[in-house]
Amino acid sequence: MKIISSISELRETLAPLRKQGKKIGLVPTMGALHEGHASLIDHSSAECDVTVVSVFLNPIQFGKNEDLDKYPRRLQADAKLAEEHGGTFVFAPSVSEMYPNGDPLTLIRDESLEGLYCGSYRPGHFRGVLTVVAKLFLISCADVAFFGEKDYQQVFLIEQMVRDLNFPIKIVRVPIVREPSGLARSSRNEYLTAEEKNLALGISRGLLAAKSAFDAGERNVDNIRNIVKQSIASNGGTVQYVEVASQATLAALDGSATIGEKVVILVAAFFGTTRLIDNIEL
Ligand code: PAF
Repeated sequence: MKIISSISELRETLAPLRKQGKKIGLVPTMGALHEGHASLIDHSSAECDVTVVSVFLNPIQFGKNEDLDKYPRRLQADAKLAEEHGGTFVFAPSVSEMYPNGDPLTLIRDESLEGLYCGSYRPGHFRGVLTVVAKLFLISCADVAFFGEKDYQQVFLIEQMVRDLNFPIKIVRVPIVREPSGLARSSRNEYLTAEEKNLALGISRGLLAAKSAFDAGERNVDNIRNIVKQSIASNGGTVQYVEVASQATLAALDGSATIGEKVVILVAAFFGTTRLIDNIEL
C-alpha cells in the first residue's frame, strides 16, 4: 500500500489514472480505522477503479478542550486495513502540508445547520469539517466520496455543500456499521472501559425501542425522544441531545408535533467522559 504524504504527489499520481478514464473514489478519514471505515472502503472499491483513503487528523474541526491530543494514531495499521479492503492509496498529509500558513483564513460554513445538534455543542466543528472535506475534494478530484451515516449531520452538510458549490463529485452515504452488541462503530469507542461499553448500549437499544414504538403507531415527538433519553439515563449515560429531525431538511420537530414525514432520531450522549453519537431513521 503506497502512502502518499504530499499534495503534489497525490495529484501527479492520480492525473494519469484519471486520463485513462479510471473512476476515482475518496474515503476521507481521520485514521484509527475500524469496521465502519472498512465498509466505506469496500463500497468505494466495489464502485471505483481507484480508492484513495485519506488519513488526516484535522485540527481545525476540534475545539480547544476536545480529544485531538488523545485521538488514536496508527498509520501503518490504517494502511494495512485500507489495503485489505481494496484501497489503492493512502493519502496521509501532515498538518503543515494541509495548512502551510496555519489555520486557513478561507472557511466553508453552513449558515443554517452548522449550529444545530453536534454543532451547538462543538462550535466551529462543521466549519472545520466542510473546509477540510472541500480541500480533499479539490486535491483528489475524486468522482465519488463515501461517508458513513453515523455522522448523519456531517454527511447532510457535505451533500448540501456539494450542491451549493457545484463540486463535481457524487456523495455516497454508507449505512452505520455496528458491533455485534449494537454499539455503532466509532474510533472513540476505544476510550470506553469495558463497563462503559456495555452501558453505552443504552443508546442503540433506546433507538431501537423508539423505532419499535414508532412502528407500533407512536407519532408524538416528545414520547419518541423520551424513550431514547430514558434508555440512556437508566444506563448511567448523560444525554447531550436527543432530537427528531426531518430527513429532508434536518430541521428539528417540535416536541409536541406529530410525526408526519420521514424523520431521523439524532443522539449525542456521554458515557464517562466519552461522547458518542448515533441515529436511526424512521
Ligand atoms: O468523519 C470524519 O472522520 C471526519 O469528520 C472527516 C470527514 C474525515 C473530515 O475530517
